[in-house]
Amino acid sequence: MADRYLSFAGTAPGRFLTRRTGLPQPAALRRWSAEHPRFEGELLHLTAGKSSLDGPDGLAAVLGRTGLTVRAESERPVAAVLDATGVTDVGTLAEVHAALHPVVRSVAGSGRVIVLGAPIDAADHHQAAVQQALEGFVRSLGKEIGRGRTVTLLRLTDATAAESTLRFLLSPKSAYVSGQVIGIGGGAEVTTPEDWALPLAGRTALVTGAARGIGEAVAATLARDGARVVCLDVPGAAPELAAVAGRLGGSALALDITSPDAGARILAALPSEGLDVLVHNAGITRDRRLVNMAAERWSSVLDVNLASVLRSTDALLSAGGLRSGGRIVATASIAGLAGNAGQTNYAASKAGVAGLVRALAPRAAAEHGVTVNAVAPGFIETKMTAAVPLFIREAGRRMNSLGQGGLPVDVAETTAWLAHPASGAVNGQVVRVCGQSLLGA
Ligand code: NAI
Repeated sequence: MADRYLSFAGTAPGRFLTRRTGLPQPAALRRWSAEHPRFEGELLHLTAGKSSLDGPDGLAAVLGRTGLTVRAESERPVAAVLDATGVTDVGTLAEVHAALHPVVRSVAGSGRVIVLGAPIDAADHHQAAVQQALEGFVRSLGKEIGRGRTVTLLRLTDATAAESTLRFLLSPKSAYVSGQVIGIGGGAEVTTPEDWALPLAGRTALVTGAARGIGEAVAATLARDGARVVCLDVPGAAPELAAVAGRLGGSALALDITSPDAGARILAALPSEGLDVLVHNAGITRDRRLVNMAAERWSSVLDVNLASVLRSTDALLSAGGLRSGGRIVATASIAGLAGNAGQTNYAASKAGVAGLVRALAPRAAAEHGVTVNAVAPGFIETKMTAAVPLFIREAGRRMNSLGQGGLPVDVAETTAWLAHPASGAVNGQVVRVCGQSLLGA
């Protein structure tokens, strides 16, 4: 279902009317395309306090490799990166204001503001207070900045471990990720790819629910990044699945992920060296308020969205089906983080996914060299959301800082960043792809 309001708001009369009446003013977001894969222009590198990211292969070197021209001053930057790792007291926090206040207006439409913070030090309540303050700052700036621009906070101690993340955030691939706090550090090995344009070359990825919607976009994006894709979906979707797999040069596995032997059948379908990327995307909704919800609606949703994710993850990890350097990306939902009327079953299953990710991540990294993260989509334009009644759909689309729904490719690009061999230090994160939705913000 096309977003006609977004198209209208981009016209001259639309701009006039929305400005005059105070209606939302969503901007057409810039997304990745083969012709325009990256931003071009200047990146403003600012610092507040004494940076902890200096050094020979420090932040300046990493930013220099993004393809943007790094400057200490710029009239029209496409992105501003503020290194606030050295902010340890309220006095230096004022430098955050001093650095961004004069430049925020000049950041180009669809541009980026990225604040870099330090991990919170529980033993130092002054440092903890001001580093936590950065979260409130970033989330508020995300809500007021407008014009398709996004604002993100990264917590890190090592710029090279964050290179894949900085490249993702400083590119059109992260168009619908805003208002997020992402922690980087620990986790598994960080492997720099030979070719940043084909980071998954020679790797195999399995995507569940790949016959349509977000899963199809994930499979296509991982294939673009060089992966051989194994596309899994229910036998009832076999023709669509075969078409997707054929188009991507991958293979199709028609299998109900809830079947008891699913893990064994996945293992049997994999190449002998095993799997590098496992994307748990298959999911269903069976909405009813709890008072009207039959047990079957509860159990079917919990089985597809959570129990089968747990079962197949355990089966693959215990059989060594995921190679060292592997990546697991599960699909949560903002409904699981915020709660949603009529979705006690769905929200329970998706909150469960977030719990699984946070608990398994350190162990999977230590024992298998595998990272475990989740994407939590907000309102994404798919067949699932096209079926939502008009008024609720319109509210869902607009109730976020970017004033529009996301596209399946936005979730896919975020998945591809988490699946990246250089994203080994991103582990146990639940990253919302929601345009900074007001739900559960
Ligand atoms: P969709 O309904 O378009 O596609 C889901 C796919 O999963 C379908 O091809 C379906 O056949 C497959 N599937 C369902 N049960 C399966 C099973 N037992 N075994 C194997 N495959 C199975 O859904 P969409 O919108 O693409 O969503 C994908 C994921 O993203 C789901 O986990 C969903 O909960 C989640 N999500 C979607 C949001 C949205 O706005 N569309 C928002 C938040 C989360």
